[in-house]
Amino acid sequence: MLAAVIGAAGVILIKLSAPPPFDFNLGSFAFWCLVTLVASVLPVRLPGDVLATLSTGPLIAAVFDPNLANPFAACWVALIGTFELRDIRRQIPWYGTLFNRANFVLSTFAASLTLTVTQPWVRHGDAWGTFAQIVLVGLAFALVNNFLSVLAASVRTHSPFAKVWSLSVRQVAVGLLGQVPMGWLMAQIADGVGYWATVPFLIPLALARYTFTKYAETRELFLGTVSALSQAIDAKDGFTRGHADRVSRIAGAIAREMGLGETEIERVELAGLLHDIGKIGVEDRILMKPVRLDDDERELMRRHPLYGASILEPSAALRPLVTIVLHHHENYDGSGYPEGLAGERIPLGARIIIVADAYEAMTSDRIYRKAIGHQRALEQLNRYKGLQFDPTVVRALEGLLERNGPSAFEVSDLPPINYETLAQLRIRLTRDPLLRDANVG
Ligand SMILES: [Fe+2]
Repeated sequence: MLAAVIGAAGVILIKLSAPPPFDFNLGSFAFWCLVTLVASVLPVRLPGDVLATLSTGPLIAAVFDPNLANPFAACWVALIGTFELRDIRRQIPWYGTLFNRANFVLSTFAASLTLTVTQPWVRHGDAWGTFAQIVLVGLAFALVNNFLSVLAASVRTHSPFAKVWSLSVRQVAVGLLGQVPMGWLMAQIADGVGYWATVPFLIPLALARYTFTKYAETRELFLGTVSALSQAIDAKDGFTRGHADRVSRIAGAIAREMGLGETEIERVELAGLLHDIGKIGVEDRILMKPVRLDDDERELMRRHPLYGASILEPSAALRPLVTIVLHHHENYDGSGYPEGLAGERIPLGARIIIVADAYEAMTSDRIYRKAIGHQRALEQLNRYKGLQFDPTVVRALEGLLERNGPSAFEVSDLPPINYETLAQLRIRLTRDPLLRDANVG
């Protein structure tokens, strides 16, 4: 894949450059190279590990600039102007640098080709025609660029293409919406007023970068908070260390197997992390009791989904998880709690969590008993399907295990929770003075 993309870009560049066009304007070329370099130097990392660069605006401007011998010049701007600090500092392997350059060359070539093809249809001063042309040129650039970026990120992070695409596409689309018309405008101003007049456009570019950064930071903060809450309950319920993290992975994999959308999959993963958060409200003497609970104690324990829902409800970001957490102990035949819902009336996310929860509990060691293994766990799930568990969900889990084995649950972009021993934590604090200082007092 890598070699094909790099090879295609190389062939296009050689074809365009032999022989070089006679009307090549070095001044305009150098100007767009410089502006693109300034815009590319610091890309922003979006969720899904896709980088958002701000070079789209200047590259589209180069495509639309009538003073450049295109597509020859625009493709060379794409090659030279899109170098980032990471390339110069050698933070990415050489083939990554080549792939990224090839990606920009191919996207710019696609945009330039679209402009050439549509040119005969657009008369001078035709507003709708020009508008349609800008949209088509932008789309050509965006489709090639995003497809290749997402493909690369998906291979690098071993995540499914659809997942990386859906995590990043909205942000990329918003960026394009702002950058493509701006690129066109920059070309018009450069041609009509002068190249110097396009320099103030770097300010909205910087603002766009700020917006991207804020989005990435907000999401990181959110996932960090969810992870902290999840660790809080794990720390309290000492028997089940790491349980929530594993339930989250299993539930996410089942949701993917069942063909749910990416937003829904992420919701199920987050609910998996937080499904037992309500146990914070259950007294320790009940939560930690090593022997069987009596009726009153069981009644108190059964309130934890309700407590969980009340804890999550006030937060707008966590509210979509409330129904899943509230119903994660509802049985398929209606014999569960807290509301005794049955069948399809139980939210699908909750039907997935109860299967993931049971499977995880059976396949991991506890202080009071050993794991029973995948095969016997599946037998148990099958025995209770239709009673406690939704048969479709059990079938999805079975299919997943048949195909991929237990490693089916490794795909998640939620930050992993690291459980340290006190000794490990001490060592880390000694090694990392910043962290240590933050913990003083
Ligand atoms: Fe629970």
